[in-house]
Amino acid sequence: MPAPLVLGLESSCDETGVGLVRGYELLADEVASSVDEHARFGGIIPEIASRAHLEAMVPTLTRALDAAGVRLSDVDALAVTAGPGLVGPLTVGTAAAKALALALDRPLYGVNHVVGHAVVDELVHGPFDERVLALVVSGGHSSLLLLEDTVHVTELGSTLDDAAGEAFDKVGRLLGLPYPGGPHIDRLARQGDATAIRFPRGLTAAKDQASHATDFSFSGLKTAVARWVEARQDAGLDVPLADVAASFSAAVADVLTAKSIAACRAHGVATLVVGGGFSANSQLRELAAARCAEAGIELRIPPIRYCTDNGAMIAALGSAVVARGLPASPPEFGVDSTMPLTQVLA
Ligand code: KG4
Ligand code: ZN
Repeated sequence: MPAPLVLGLESSCDETGVGLVRGYELLADEVASSVDEHARFGGIIPEIASRAHLEAMVPTLTRALDAAGVRLSDVDALAVTAGPGLVGPLTVGTAAAKALALALDRPLYGVNHVVGHAVVDELVHGPFDERVLALVVSGGHSSLLLLEDTVHVTELGSTLDDAAGEAFDKVGRLLGLPYPGGPHIDRLARQGDATAIRFPRGLTAAKDQASHATDFSFSGLKTAVARWVEARQDAGLDVPLADVAASFSAAVADVLTAKSIAACRAHGVATLVVGGGFSANSQLRELAAARCAEAGIELRIPPIRYCTDNGAMIAALGSAVVARGLPASPPEFGVDSTMPLTQVLA
């Protein structure tokens, strides 16, 4: 018997994603993004994102079914992002998923977006070991999770203020770069000297080890960058953008990788999975590869297209919960903009 065909819908932010997965095999992954419509506002406008999801949902679904060469009636189970995310966008996706599940008479699983960012790697590099550590870094999250049997989640730590991607976007604005600033800083950083400026590493002091060993903080770093730039401008000096970008990126990559590896050691875990839009960051990728190799830890990072929001990650997590025989979400389940990361299913 082939594994069940799972349809996954993602709509937590500005990407409408539809994925089709059978077991660990990805059959289709179609995404429509409204990011360009938000650029002039310098941030996501939920109402615009909701409307874009409404317009993109059916065409994106049709493209995914065509790409996989399946019909809607072939789908055995559905998964949809129940949270965390923006309420309006989440509501569009869950309403679509509920209508489809009802019409097809198939079970529907409301799943956790952040956990999906890690589990999508099973489609790329195969099933997870019994225990893996996941670093999920995006515009909204910077979290360290312990995954046991893929779907049992313990939250080891998270950011106390800004997420890594958010810090990049804010520093991007400060440096006069277009929104979202993350990829622009990454590009600039590659031409700069990462050792030019020593920016602070948040929550890495000895006093933070007791209570915040696995937590992150990036707002102090962001302020330090702002102060440094202001001081240069006040002195009438040019701001060496590439060096600032490289030194700032180095501080973020240093903290993320050091804390992830320390957590792997503390919990006796041999595999680190990195996911979320910020895992596209080249300094993070390079430093994680070097430090994991040195520490004898297996590093799994999916290709960038599976790191940003997509439907495959939701279908992958759906496939994992279906395979374990977990109960479908109740028909009346609601979206949860602050869905706890330990809660995999609505
Ligand atoms: O996961 P994602 O697509 O959306 C959220 O769920 O937030 O992540 C988007 C975030 C944005 O903050 C963006 O600036 C950042 O990831 N990002 C990057 C890079 N590519 C995307 N940050 C740094 N370097 C990059 N190459
Ligand atoms: Zn995301």
